[in-house]
Amino acid sequence: MSARTSPTEAFEKIPTFIFDDAPSAAAALAAEVRDLIVKRKAEGRPVVLGLATGSTPVPFYRELIRLHREEGLSFAEVITFNLDEYYGLSRDHRESYFRFMQEQLFSHIDLKPENIHLPDGTVPLDGVFAHCAAYEAAIEAAGGVDIQVLGIGRTGHIGFNEPGSSKDSLTRLLPLDIVTRQDAAADFLREENVPRFAITMGVGTILRARKLVMMAWGGNKAEIAAKAIEGPETEAVSASFLQSHADARCFLDRGASGALTRVRLPWLVGRAEWTPAETRRAVLWLALTEKKPVLKLRDGEYNEHGMAELVTRYGNAYHLNIEVFNRQQQTITGWPGGKPNADDTSRPERAAPFPKTVLILAPEPQDDVLGMGGTMERLVSQGHDVHVCYMTGGDLRITDAEAIRFARVLLETSEQDPERWKEQIGYAGGILEEIEVKGPFGDPPARLRRLKALIRRGEARDAAISLGVKPGQIRFLDLPFYTEGRYRQFRLGAADVTAVGSVLATLRPHQIYITGNLADPSSVQGLAFAAFRSAWEARAGQPWREQCRVWLYRGQQSEYGPHEIQMAIPMSPDQLTHKLHAVQKFQSHTLPELLDGERNRDLARLYDSLGTAEYEAIEAFRRWVE
Ligand code: F6R
Repeated sequence: MSARTSPTEAFEKIPTFIFDDAPSAAAALAAEVRDLIVKRKAEGRPVVLGLATGSTPVPFYRELIRLHREEGLSFAEVITFNLDEYYGLSRDHRESYFRFMQEQLFSHIDLKPENIHLPDGTVPLDGVFAHCAAYEAAIEAAGGVDIQVLGIGRTGHIGFNEPGSSKDSLTRLLPLDIVTRQDAAADFLREENVPRFAITMGVGTILRARKLVMMAWGGNKAEIAAKAIEGPETEAVSASFLQSHADARCFLDRGASGALTRVRLPWLVGRAEWTPAETRRAVLWLALTEKKPVLKLRDGEYNEHGMAELVTRYGNAYHLNIEVFNRQQQTITGWPGGKPNADDTSRPERAAPFPKTVLILAPEPQDDVLGMGGTMERLVSQGHDVHVCYMTGGDLRITDAEAIRFARVLLETSEQDPERWKEQIGYAGGILEEIEVKGPFGDPPARLRRLKALIRRGEARDAAISLGVKPGQIRFLDLPFYTEGRYRQFRLGAADVTAVGSVLATLRPHQIYITGNLADPSSVQGLAFAAFRSAWEARAGQPWREQCRVWLYRGQQSEYGPHEIQMAIPMSPDQLTHKLHAVQKFQSHTLPELLDGERNRDLARLYDSLGTAEYEAIEAFRRWVE
């Protein structure tokens, strides 16, 4: 953990702690809770905890469970109040927060059922007001919340206090923001199924807790966390109200801290070390801020932005500009696998060996094509031995309607010769029945999930083949954490790591491409990366590993900043069109915002604005070092 040091405070208005990863942050918070429970027990007083749902607190709950099981921590004298509940969902609904809490925490510890409090999503409309008032009164009667745990939504909400919630708002029913509903769409399979309303503690209710700890993990939360921590206190970002609480803190992992000034622009808080990476970041930032190509930046502009010291180190802006410009230019290569027989001293990838064995790991089908479809095609056409490995089936993204369509085709074709296709008829009919029985929100049975995974598999195979990958070099790992889990409840196990490890051991690749290192650690991408990482670490010292480079692509996450990119693969208009055709093979689920190739075009425009060569589109990579 990096402690706060003084210059940071100028920007950070909530004391903020950056941890290496979510589990270490969660362990720190859990230890604090344990200490309070132990202290209060000695005093004969209960502890009142304010709890949250969603992905963020899951590592914290796992640690509390561990403390209970392994260290005998008792929750018998703990009272809990949850922040919120979806309106209209019964307690046993698969996505209700009540059920979430049971599954994630309550059923694993010795909390007394009468000490558990969540708003009730089923109270009739005319009873909501009284129910909310009673919830407030119950918190008060318990003595108020000692520690309130919070996550932050991408709208800046705490609890479900969407933008516009006032600082003194109390527990109430309110409509969910469109962004919040989109973020919950995966849990409910599609956006239309996400409830439109929720009952939530108000901002005022939350601020009455004696201590507040807001947590955020992964790059997706970086922008909103920085707004809450550094921006003005405003109703537009409910979490910003933590700024005026006397004992509020933020716990972030590296991904979620990425947009804080101390991380993004360290020279502004007197933290610059002017490493080569930081120098590059500062110069490119200045070029984008001044809207000028790198080579046109002047001494005066550096001075105005707190970078006088940097220029002095280089003598003048010209020398600094040229160095950073060259480095940026050198990231561009048409040879992702290295250019054979060429001088590779300033190229991103080595010339030898050639051809290389390349392993592309896709956490979910489509990550590969979205993030690096153009590069996949290059690697194949330049003669490398390209293997694609889909780590999970991706079936949780597929609607029942897709499965129904496939089952009906099978049924209708089989019915033409019912004697011969008896088993198929039974299978297809069974699928249709399972869908009917489980309804829109029931847990999908394994057989249905398998069918959906096969639908996705077909699409993934078609897409990879359309980019030139040989059918025999496409693997489907079906990692158990995904096959046996569901959103927000995935749990990585030894079998996941073993499966990834056996692919590494079989192929002994010279290059690996993967995504997910800074993603939310509980997301499919985050877990798949963790599985890869463990498998990789377990093979330390093996000769092939010493020769292997790991390249990170961005998949579905927003693209790298220009300063982060170590390899940029340009694409011609035709190459981009070809990539987009491959993306379109994923008919059962696709991300509309990524279908038009604008993200790759934007990156090319960015390179152009920095003064490097102008291309139609670019795919970006970063080298991963442990
Ligand atoms: C949940 C809650 C919300 C979540 C927020 C982040 O009880 O009140 O504010 O904390 O939406 O959700 P995740 O953690 O799923 O990213």
